[in-house]
Amino acid sequence: MVNQKIYAIVPAAGMGMRANTTQPKQFLSIGKHTIIEYALAPLIARDDIEKIVVVLNDQQQWRNLPIAKHPKIITTQGGDTRSQSVLNGLAALAATEDDWIVVHDAARPCLSDSELAHLLAAIADHPVGGLLATPVRDTLKKSDAEGCIENTVDRSDLWQAQTPQCFRFGLLQQALTKYRDVTDESEAVERLGYRAKLVPGLLTNFKVTHPEDIQLAQKLVRGG
Ligand code: CTP
Ligand code: MG
Repeated sequence: MVNQKIYAIVPAAGMGMRANTTQPKQFLSIGKHTIIEYALAPLIARDDIEKIVVVLNDQQQWRNLPIAKHPKIITTQGGDTRSQSVLNGLAALAATEDDWIVVHDAARPCLSDSELAHLLAAIADHPVGGLLATPVRDTLKKSDAEGCIENTVDRSDLWQAQTPQCFRFGLLQQALTKYRDVTDESEAVERLGYRAKLVPGLLTNFKVTHPEDIQLAQKLVRGG
């Protein structure tokens, strides 16, 4: 990564429907800080990340946070989908084709500095880029319409994708512009025909998705 710059995009424009909280989950306090502040901390801690774009629907809630004044952070407006929000983030950056873009969910508060370092080191010489992911460890069952087991699925080559996901600016913009109906950046990149690197991460870097995840995140950030 000698000649390329590194930028980060933190999509934070979702409504958090599944978490079912009164305000979007990324603005909930867990311990001393909000979920989005914990998510941003490892990105801010790296001197080689030039700028961080936080993509928002609710500017007001953001402006209430002390972190909103951080000199490395800029903001832009979110889109209707996560992929549109990331595209808006890319548009807010004056990056060049080969610069690296690190996309990290605002709803993932437990990413450690060392996991981020591990990802960036693992993809530094990779032509496409990659993401943190965990190999599926429980036995996988396929269900039928009645919620009973139809069969057991071979999990030996299955992974759960996390963020950060790290790709070059040009490739990511091209992929997300072409494939809008994707759940993450790597899906757009793989549909374009590129093979991203799976970098083993930790289960603790989970995404706050359902109500019970909030308590778990609270325990993990307090414990750490
Ligand atoms: N996100 C975004 N713009 C959207 C949708 C999602 O920036 N239009 C962000 C969320 O804020 C979150 C991340 O993408 O940080 C991961 O998405 P997800 O966990 O699905 O969050 P929500 O879409 O907010 O939750 P839900 O799907 O339950 O409504
Ligand atoms: Mg969503």
